[in-house]
Amino acid sequence: MRLRFCLMLSLVMPLLAQTSSDRPFLRKQGTAAQLIVNGSPFLVLGGELHNSSSSSLAYMEPVWQRMIDLNLNTVLAGLSWELVEPQEGRFDFELVDGLIQGARRNNLHLVLLWFGSWKNGMSSYVPLWVKKDFNRFPRVQIKNGEKTEVLSTLAEANWKADAAAFASLMRHLREVDDQEHTVVMMQVENESGVLGDSRDRGPLSEKAFSASVPPLLMDYLEKNRNELVPEIRKRWEAAGLKSSGTWEEVFGAGAETDEMFMAWNYARYIDRVAAAGKSEYGIPMYVNTWLAGPGRTLGSFPSGGSLPYDMDIWLAGAPHIDFLSPDIYSADFSFWCTRYADRGNPLFIPETNGQGNGPRNLLYAFGEHDAIGTSPFAVDSIPNPKESDLARTYSIVAQLAPIILRNQGRREMAGFVVDKEKPTITKELGGYELEISLDSIFGTTSDYGSGIVIHAGPDEFLGAGSGFRVRFKPKTPGPGRAGIGQVDEGTFRGGEWIPGRRLNGDENDQGGYWRFDRQIPRIERCVVYRWE
Ligand code: DGJ
Repeated sequence: MRLRFCLMLSLVMPLLAQTSSDRPFLRKQGTAAQLIVNGSPFLVLGGELHNSSSSSLAYMEPVWQRMIDLNLNTVLAGLSWELVEPQEGRFDFELVDGLIQGARRNNLHLVLLWFGSWKNGMSSYVPLWVKKDFNRFPRVQIKNGEKTEVLSTLAEANWKADAAAFASLMRHLREVDDQEHTVVMMQVENESGVLGDSRDRGPLSEKAFSASVPPLLMDYLEKNRNELVPEIRKRWEAAGLKSSGTWEEVFGAGAETDEMFMAWNYARYIDRVAAAGKSEYGIPMYVNTWLAGPGRTLGSFPSGGSLPYDMDIWLAGAPHIDFLSPDIYSADFSFWCTRYADRGNPLFIPETNGQGNGPRNLLYAFGEHDAIGTSPFAVDSIPNPKESDLARTYSIVAQLAPIILRNQGRREMAGFVVDKEKPTITKELGGYELEISLDSIFGTTSDYGSGIVIHAGPDEFLGAGSGFRVRFKPKTPGPGRAGIGQVDEGTFRGGEWIPGRRLNGDENDQGGYWRFDRQIPRIERCVVYRWE
C-alpha cells in the first residue's frame, strides 16, 4: 500500500513540478473582474515598449532600469511570429527566455503581445516563409480588385499556421513559467482589421458574405437580444429582427454591416489562435483595438477590429478571448473607457499616451471602472523617467493598490476627469454627493483635473490626483450640510498611512474645498463632518 502510494507520487511529481494551480486567471469580485497572480489580486501598472525594442536582448539591457524608474510592475513587450518561427516548424525561444529572465531579474511581470497574423491591420510580422507564399496563404483583396499583402481571415491555412506557432509558444511558456508566472497575460495579435476598405472582397470572403449569418452568431443575438450594444440592436431591428438570412438580409446593406462581417471573421480566426494557445497554457488573453469614433471614415481604420459598436459580435465569436481592450490616444479617454467597460467586459488599457494628460487619466480608469490595469505606449522613450508624471502616478497607484483591490466591484470608489468642456461633475459615495470641479484659487482655474476618490470609512475619504477640488453634500438623514473637517497629504508605506502636511488655509480654500492643485498628483485624506 505504502509502496503503491510512493509509486503513484513518483508518477505525479514530475507533473506537479511543471504545473501550478496558481496560474494567472480572472476572478469576479462584486461587479469587477480581477487578475489573480500567484494567488493574489494584481493591478497591472504597465507600460508598452516601442514595437522593436524587445526584439533584441542587448537593446533591452538598459531598458529594464527605465521600467523600474517609471514604477511599472509589468512590461508589455511585442513578440513576433517571424522571430519565434523563422522556418516552418523550427522554433526559437531564446528571445522569450531572455525577456522572462530580464523581467525576473528586475522583479517585473510581462504581458507578451503576439504579433502574429496582424499588427496594425497589416501582416508585416509574419515569417518570410508565410510572406512569400501567396498561394498557400491567401490575402485580403479590397475594392476594385486591389491586392494586398494582408492575410485573409477566411483562409483555414492562415489560422492553422498562426495557431500552431502560438500553441508552441504557449507550450514553451508552460514549461518555463508555470511556477513563477512572470508572464501574466497574452495579447493575441495587434489592432486587427481590414484597412483601405470596409471588408475583404477576395473570393473566399465574397462567398462567406453572401452565405447565411452563422447560426452561432444568430443564437447569441437571440439569447442576448435585450442586452446587445445599441448599434447592433438598431441594425438588426431596422432590418426586421430576422432569425436567419445573409448578412445584408439580417443587418441591412452598408459599411457597418461589412464591419460586422469582418468583426465576426476576425473574432473567429483569433479565437482559434487563442484556443490553440490556451489548450497548451491557459492564462488570460485579450485583443487590443485601433479606435474609430462615431463619425469614422471608411478605410481609415481597421474594419472588423474589436470596437465597442461590434462588441457582441466579438463576445459571440471569440469565447477564448477574456476581454477586448481599447488603445486610447484621443482626448475622449473617459468615453472609450465607459464603452469598453460595458457588457461585463473587464477594462484593461494596453496603450495610451505616456505623457501629457495620459498618465493622470489612469487614475480615472482605476477609480471609475475597476480597471485590471493600464499601460501607456512607448514607455522606453519617456524622458527623465524617475521624475515623469507616469512614475508619479504609478507610485500613487502602487501605494493605494491594496485599498483599490479591496474595493473593486463594491461601488466604494469613483474616478473622474474634469476639463474646460465639463468643468464640474457629481458622484455619490459614502452617503455624500461629491461635487468635483476644476481646481480654482486666487482667480486661476486649472484646465484639467483627474483623480480617484475612495470611501475609506464613516465620513472619511482618500483621494489622489491633481487639478480638481471637491465639495460634499449629505445624502442620508441627519444634518443637511457638510464641512471639511481635516485634510492631510500623505503616503502609504507598507500599507501604513504616513501623514505629511495638514492642508488648511489656502490649501483647502479656507475650509471651502478639498483641493488637489495642478502641480503634482498626490494622495490626500479628508474627514468631513455634518452641520446645519
Ligand atoms: C498602435 C499600435 O498598436 C502600436 O503597436 C504602435 O504601432 C502604436 N500604434 C504607434 O503609435
